[in-house]
Amino acid sequence: MDAPEGGTLIRAADSAGLADAVRLLSQGRLVGLPTETVYGLACDASNPVAVARVFAAKGRPAFNPLIAHCDSLAMAQQQGVFDNTAARLAEAFWPGPLTLVVPLSASHQVCDLARAGLASVALRVPAHPVMRAVIAGLGRPVAAPSANLSGRVSATSAAHVEADLAGRIDLILDAGSSTHGLESTIIACLGGAPALLRSGAIPADAIRAVLGPDVPLRAARTDPDAPIAPGGLLRHYAPAASLRLNVSVPEPDEAWLAFGPLRSPVPQAAEILSLSETGDLVEAASRLFAFLRSLDARHSRIAVAPIPDTELGEAINDRLRRAATR
Ligand code: TXA
Ligand code: MG
Repeated sequence: MDAPEGGTLIRAADSAGLADAVRLLSQGRLVGLPTETVYGLACDASNPVAVARVFAAKGRPAFNPLIAHCDSLAMAQQQGVFDNTAARLAEAFWPGPLTLVVPLSASHQVCDLARAGLASVALRVPAHPVMRAVIAGLGRPVAAPSANLSGRVSATSAAHVEADLAGRIDLILDAGSSTHGLESTIIACLGGAPALLRSGAIPADAIRAVLGPDVPLRAARTDPDAPIAPGGLLRHYAPAASLRLNVSVPEPDEAWLAFGPLRSPVPQAAEILSLSETGDLVEAASRLFAFLRSLDARHSRIAVAPIPDTELGEAINDRLRRAATR
């Protein structure tokens, strides 16, 4: 993966540090940022290459949807559709450690890869002034998973972020220890009763107190790091076309999703799109959803070239296998 040229810099979250963070994010780079819950591994949520870099830096074998952090309710409402329940919870707990999963709105800025292809979006307006100032500076949502390597505990200080991610991100803003030290509580408001997807810094009872006796809170899951969704909550984008994987020579009436240098003679196919002609897995991940949608719109059969099962290739192959076996 493309490591930062100057190594990972840690600096104080003063105005110069904030300006640096905003500049790097707008260039598609990664920054470790403090929030009141845990430190986040932040990127521009609208930039699929930046989001692909986040997945590469975390070393996750699958694309998990990320939380889009907003500086205000107005920015959040530009990304998602709030029903009455979502609006009440946002009013009661934002800014703060509550994440709301809501249907995606037409005016959203959160790219497909950041949502792992879901038609919903996870939104949070954090209370931490540093995080909010950086989002405001960028002017659009910041996607950020917890700033730890996959399988490790969440980072609650700049030193923790450095221990896991040094050499993989460009900058860490140090604002001391996170107040809560526990991730945000995640509630899905997707129609019907709201569902608790992850317990976190706001106790379920505090949520119930705001919802009142007439709105039950469904308990959806218990594992703190991987929401398992009730009844189709996590329905990912799946192409209508059939998908054939590990195809080096497509059939002439198939569209071909290629990877790596095209050998000559170029295979006969209905259409060819290359995820990355240079064999760059970050580039391939950043294009995966857009290219699948694009081919799906024009073809009923898609063949996909073999993709190495290393680094981000693991997550790409995981996603492709799911799309192929519906
Ligand atoms: O406190 C926090 O929430 C921290 C700080 C940095 O904001 N962030 C955090 O992010 O814990 P992460 O990526 O480690 O956990 C986010 C969780 C994931 O388990 C993901 O599956 C879930 O949110 N999630 C994101 N979008 C979702 C969606 N559309 N539907 C269901 N779950 C979603
Ligand atoms: Mg996490």
